[in-house]
Amino acid sequence: AAARSADARRPGLASTAPFLRACRRDQPETTPVWFMRQAGRVLPEYRALRADVPMLDSCRDPAMITEITMQPVRRFRPDAAIFFSDIVVPLVAIGLDIDIVAGVGPVVAEPVRDSARLAALRALEPDDVPYVTQAVRDLLGELGGTPLIGFAGAPFTLASYLVEGGPSRNHLRTKAMMYGEPELWHELLDRLATITTAFLRVQVDAGVDAVQLFDSWAGALSEDDYRRYVAPHSARVLAAFAGEVPRIHFGVNTGELLAAMGQVGADVVGVDWRVPLDEAARRIGPGRAVQGNLDPAAVFAPEPVLAAKVGDVLARGAKAEGHVFNLGHGVLPETDPGVLAHIVDLVHAG
Ligand code: CP3
Repeated sequence: AAARSADARRPGLASTAPFLRACRRDQPETTPVWFMRQAGRVLPEYRALRADVPMLDSCRDPAMITEITMQPVRRFRPDAAIFFSDIVVPLVAIGLDIDIVAGVGPVVAEPVRDSARLAALRALEPDDVPYVTQAVRDLLGELGGTPLIGFAGAPFTLASYLVEGGPSRNHLRTKAMMYGEPELWHELLDRLATITTAFLRVQVDAGVDAVQLFDSWAGALSEDDYRRYVAPHSARVLAAFAGEVPRIHFGVNTGELLAAMGQVGADVVGVDWRVPLDEAARRIGPGRAVQGNLDPAAVFAPEPVLAAKVGDVLARGAKAEGHVFNLGHGVLPETDPGVLAHIVDLVHAG
């Protein structure tokens, strides 16, 4: 599978890159590390570049995507780059009116709450996102030996934004539809799975080396509801890339869902900071690598405390079949970039 990443398309990239080896549970000598939300957010050079450019405009400009993806690679020397985009980009590309409001998140002008609105969720075509194809190609040339991770939002997390109309604490309307109108719910998730699969397909065909499916809010569900209402749709997305590139599957607050999230077809399961990695690996079961799981707030701890926490994550991760070091969720906006660079050094020193 990973051999595809080592072909002529990526002269600089060896299939022996530690990130790719850890994903396929082929223990590399040094543990690979990257950070969710490493692109954007904390870097002054990102803020300067974005000063006069709305978030979604920057996601549709290949030169901006490439530069913002490269900025943390230059600063931190992580073992992987994450493509700069957002989970709502494919929805905007098919014509939905969605804005990303600073400090809030995605806001949907016309929430999707009935079958009439479902028609707006048409299939995504590669021509809808030419800037994605272009930026991936440009990045492969710039990245050399550093693997590039593509990503998309999972059907449930996208559905929550569409049904609620924006960020939500309790996902009330989403669950009301799930329980009250299961046929409408499954039709909505089916359409979102089709869109997400197409968005990842564009990235994989352009050459990304791995994909991460973000089901950030899946932890709001019981395991039973997750398996019944969500898992089949996420499984369809992930199955489309089986044997092509490593598939990472991540959510927050998913301690009770780890086994189920591993079973929907992931090669690597992302774990937040609430469950220690050795226990997470036990819950996930054999045949999967783990990714995580330093508390994003640990960057504000005194250095010896931070170093001990990094050491603990490494020791527990070593008990899994494969381990990609990361934070348990995205980099917090207040984070000092210098601390992230230090964490990379700590992880590489073992
Ligand atoms: O990880 C990376 O560095 C790559 C870029 C990336 C962004 N969004 C850029 C972004 C990724 C992987 C995402 C995924 C994403 N977007 C998720 C899943 C990951 C997670 O954190 O759970 C979700 C839920 C979204 C939706 C979204 N978009 C939120 C909640 C926000 C934050 C709003 C805020 O300002 O607090 C966004 C905006 C966003 N996406 C920013 C960035 C860099 C901030 C935009 C800005 O700079 O103003």
